[in-house]
This record gives sequence, C-alpha cells and structure tokens, in this order.
Amino acid sequence: MNNILVTGGCGFIGANFIRYVFEETDFSGRIINVDKLTYAGNPESLADLAEKFGDRYVLVREDIVDRGAMGRAMDDHAVDAIAHFAAESHVDRSIVSPDDFVQTNIIGTFVLLQLARERADRIGLFHHVSTDEVFGSLGETGLFMEDTPYQPNSPYSASKASSDHLARAYHHTYGLPVTMSNCSNNYGPYQFPEKLIPLMILNALEGKPLPVYGDGKNVRDWLYVTDHCAAIWTIMQQGQKGRTYNVGGRNEMQNIRVVEVICDLLDELAGPLAGKASRRALITYVKDRPGHDRRYAIDCTRIEQELGWTPAESFETGIRKTIQWYLDNPVWIDHVRSGTYQSWIDSHYGG
Ligand code: NAD
Ligand code: DAU
Repeated sequence: MNNILVTGGCGFIGANFIRYVFEETDFSGRIINVDKLTYAGNPESLADLAEKFGDRYVLVREDIVDRGAMGRAMDDHAVDAIAHFAAESHVDRSIVSPDDFVQTNIIGTFVLLQLARERADRIGLFHHVSTDEVFGSLGETGLFMEDTPYQPNSPYSASKASSDHLARAYHHTYGLPVTMSNCSNNYGPYQFPEKLIPLMILNALEGKPLPVYGDGKNVRDWLYVTDHCAAIWTIMQQGQKGRTYNVGGRNEMQNIRVVEVICDLLDELAGPLAGKASRRALITYVKDRPGHDRRYAIDCTRIEQELGWTPAESFETGIRKTIQWYLDNPVWIDHVRSGTYQSWIDSHYGG
C-alpha cells in the first residue's frame, strides 16, 4: 500500500485513523482523504497533521456518490488501497431524515466498489468499515458473532447492512479484495457532540440537562477509538480477503452507568458545579428513541485469535483520557459547537 484513499477522514473515526497511521505505524506512503465535509466532517481535527506531513496527506472535498470525482481521485493519486469510513452515522438523524443515509451509505459504497472493480489491476485492498448495529438487538444474554444473521432495525443500520452486503457480494462475485469490520460503539477525541459520550461531557461541563433515553438501561459495548483504528490497520495488513472481523471492547455498560461515570469524573477533574453536590443531579430521563435497540455486545475472538489484536484501553482508562481531551481542547469544541469551522472550511475549500 503506497497511496491509501480514506473516505470520511474528517469525521470522528476517520480522523483518528489517519492520525494513527501517520503517528503510530511505519507507513511511509500517502493518504488521500476524500470527504464531503458534512456537518460531521471537520478538517480542523487534522490541521496539525496536514502541516506536519506535507504532501503525504491530501484532502479532497468531494461526495463519494459522485462517480466522476471519485474516479479522478483514485486515478490522480494512483490509489492502490481504500479504507472506507464515509457514512451518515447518527441513528437519531436517520430516524428523522433517512434520505442522506440511503444516498451516502448505500449508493456511495456501491460507487466506490464499482470504481475499485474497474481498477482491479491497481487496487489491491478495499476495507469496508461497518457497525455491530447490523445484527439488530440482543436479549439479556448472548454475543454478536461474525455469522450472526443480519437484522438491522433503524434506517441507519439498514443502510449499513445494505452496504455490507454489497461489499461482500463484490468479493464473492468479482473477486474484489474486500475485508470488512463490524465494530461496537466508539468514544474518544474528536467525536461530534451529538453522540452519547461527548454530548454528556459537554452538557455536564456547562450544567445543562443530561437527556437519558427511556429507562437508561440500554446496553452498549464501548471501545476507545484508537483501539478500533489499530484493529482496522491490523485487518488491512493481515486480514484474509473476503473475511469479516468483529471488533469490540468487552465493555458492556448500561447508558445510565456511562452517564454517572462521566458526571463523577467531571466532578473530580473539572471541580464541582456551583450549587450542585454532584453533576448526577443533571440527569434527566426523556422520551425513548423509536425502535431503540436494547443491547449490543460483540464477540471479538476471531480478530484476537487470528490476527493478534486486543484493545489497549479499558473503559476506565479510555473515558478518563477522553474527558481530559475535551477539557484540554476548548477551541475545537467552541468551533464545533458554534459551527464556525464551517466558515474555516469555506475559506479553505471554497464552500
Ligand atoms: P462521522 O459521522 O463522525 O463522520 C463521517 C464522515 O463522513 C464525515 O467526515 C463526513 O463529512 C463524511 N461524509 C458523510 N457523507 C459523505 C459523502 N457522501 N461523501 C464523502 N464524505 C462523506 O462518523 P464516524 O463515527 O467517524 O463513523 C465512521 C464509520 O465508522 C461509519 O461508516 C460508521 O458507520 C462506522 N462506525 C461508527 C461507529 C461509532 O461508534 N461512531 C462504530 C462502528 C462503526
Ligand atoms: O454500535 C455502533 C454504533 O454506535 C455506530 O454504528 C453508530 O454510528 C454510532 O452512532 C453508535 O450508535 P448508537 O445509537 O449506539 O450511539 P449514540 O451515541 O447515539 O447512543 C448511545 C446510546 O445512548 C443509545 O442507547 C442511545 C442513548 N442516548 C443517546 C443520546 C445521543 C441517550 O440516552 N441520550 C442521548 O442524548
């Protein structure tokens, strides 16, 4: 791999992945980051890398649905591997407005697969990044395995399931060198504050209500984002073509417990809120998400045993690092919250 096309590299996991590859691996080639820069894409998350790595890092502001633009990006930069992160990623938004999810997640993935197929002589790897949500919801017990039948419940997970099926079919039918990963909930630096953990951190810092859906007992399996990035890089190096790998943190927690931990850590690290003994007093139960999946939990034995990957962070270490990162980066937060990074994008990329 000399020229890797990363899609969605200005989003949360994509930005952490590009940072990981440049800073934590011996990769000496170039990364071409193709990103439409939606509300979730923030090039400021990579501004320091763009300076440090010069022409080894290229940002191309394009839509993955645009076949002509994607073909040019692949050819202009002699792309020989693809790591496909770009997606509409937020479940609540998919419930309110599913259109973009179908366009980007399904059609966008199709466009990239088709273009990669047309360049089979040069492109030796297509890694498709997916989610554990495609498997549906678990009861009190059991774990998602790689061969668990798909049962997506939200427009988001249905669109991701569809893209997974396309990626798998392109390997099966055309021999496209596809690898896939299905990962559990990520958290860490640079996550847009619509997702549970950064939303709760920022609201709790400002003394705003902490909206917990339903009874707060839905369970998610949390993984620190750098562990996910390391898993993807491991699969891209050593994974078997046509094979899918579940990635998870063995950190099952009820949402209410996650929010309590955040409150307690913020009381410790940022000091108590004026007039409140504990930030837990901000917790507010609100109406449940429609179709809310009850429990996710991943069995990641395959990637551990076959590829030797294991997560480096526990939830305790990862959440402390994450909170400290948000405390240390008020400018990034201010820009994201106020939307001012959009004007930064426009001035740099002519929006
Ligand atoms: P994100 O919403 O933070 O970022 C998505 C990025 O994709 C943004 O930079 C956005 O601008 C870009 N994008 C969106 N539509 C585009 C388009 N049409 N063309 C080009 N770029 C476009 O998402 P994330 O949380 O970083 O998730 C990345 C991937 O990982 C997604 O495929 C998601 O399904 C998957 N995933 C996420 C999680 C999680 O917990 N966040 C867990 C497992 C898998
Ligand atoms: O499992 C992997 C998936 O994790 C990814 O594929 C998705 O892209 C990612 O968004 C995430 O989906 P979730 O729906 O699990 O994440 P979210 O942060 O939106 O919610 C986590 C849990 O917290 C979920 O049970 C809903 C609940 N929640 C969420 C928000 C935003 C609340 O109780 N209150 C909130 O305000």
